[in-house]
Amino acid sequence: KAPLRLGIAGLGTVGVGVIKIVQQKAELLSKRTGHPIVITAVSARTRDKDRGVDISGYAWEDDPVSLALRKDVDVFVELMGGADGPAKAATEAALSAGKDVVTANKAMLALHGQDLAIQAEDNGAVLRYEAAVAGGIPVIKSLTEGLAGNRITRIIGVMNGTCNYILTRMENEGLPYDEVFAAADALGYLEADPTLDVGGIDAGHKLALLASIGFGTQVAFSDMVLEGIERITISDIRHAADMGYRIKLLGVAQMTGRGLEQRMTPCLVPDNSPLGQLENATNMVVIEGDAVGQIVLRGAGAGEGPTASAVLSDVIDIARGTRLATFGQPARELVKAKSAVAATP
Ligand code: HSE
Repeated sequence: KAPLRLGIAGLGTVGVGVIKIVQQKAELLSKRTGHPIVITAVSARTRDKDRGVDISGYAWEDDPVSLALRKDVDVFVELMGGADGPAKAATEAALSAGKDVVTANKAMLALHGQDLAIQAEDNGAVLRYEAAVAGGIPVIKSLTEGLAGNRITRIIGVMNGTCNYILTRMENEGLPYDEVFAAADALGYLEADPTLDVGGIDAGHKLALLASIGFGTQVAFSDMVLEGIERITISDIRHAADMGYRIKLLGVAQMTGRGLEQRMTPCLVPDNSPLGQLENATNMVVIEGDAVGQIVLRGAGAGEGPTASAVLSDVIDIARGTRLATFGQPARELVKAKSAVAATP
């Protein structure tokens, strides 16, 4: 069977994780899909750097657009990040050439996802992004496939590993914010711009994507009520603990009589509840559907292995011939949601 040839742009934590899986599980991937999955070319900001994986067998491109357009690349795997700039340019280049794209880029999708999805559909390509939301948890596939027979009524959850890691270690160990922040960085949890994490924006991007799929609405990140964890102090955490609560950066999306409500804000949750007991970089997404009732998904929301696991799930779908629409339905048919809340100015 013909191999599926990947071009990977971005060799940070996630890119390296993807390379490890492709190199170490070649036989398993081939058995599961019926096609060998190979990497033919890569690009990153720096070429010569010890990443702990051997990339000498792959062609090198300095420019991700050139990588996306290579004849020996079937699937463009975008792991650079950034809503605009090279990530978007290369994604657009790949899609307009009719190539499938797998990305972990929640910022790009939250801001340009519908346009990119339309571009994919117009060119017969697929655009997939399981790794963009809640790391290793297959939450996109749960909404687009497993729960596709439901009318979704509510989505809530903790969707930023860094914030949860910082809050739980501050609480459990009484450690200062700066020290825990540095530890999160060392574990590869942080975005290139960490204010996206601690400002709640990264989690907001993720919630906006889930709301769009769940409610069939256009991605409406700018309508979200958003607040990060930067102003949470050890003393807030202790006061909450005294009352039997923990502070979590919690997302809520629900369709109300007044329109779509989306919030990503620090919330008090009972410390003995499943959300309250969520430790470290773990994420939890609770989905309510009219037929299924409530389901709870829990797992690692960041880090090399979990995020690479999600990227591979999209690559495997493509190798198997699954042609799922980006938002679970044609992107042009997503309706504009009336916002039920006033977004943060
Ligand atoms: N910075 C993100 C987080 C990475 O901490 O959750 C995964 O999206």
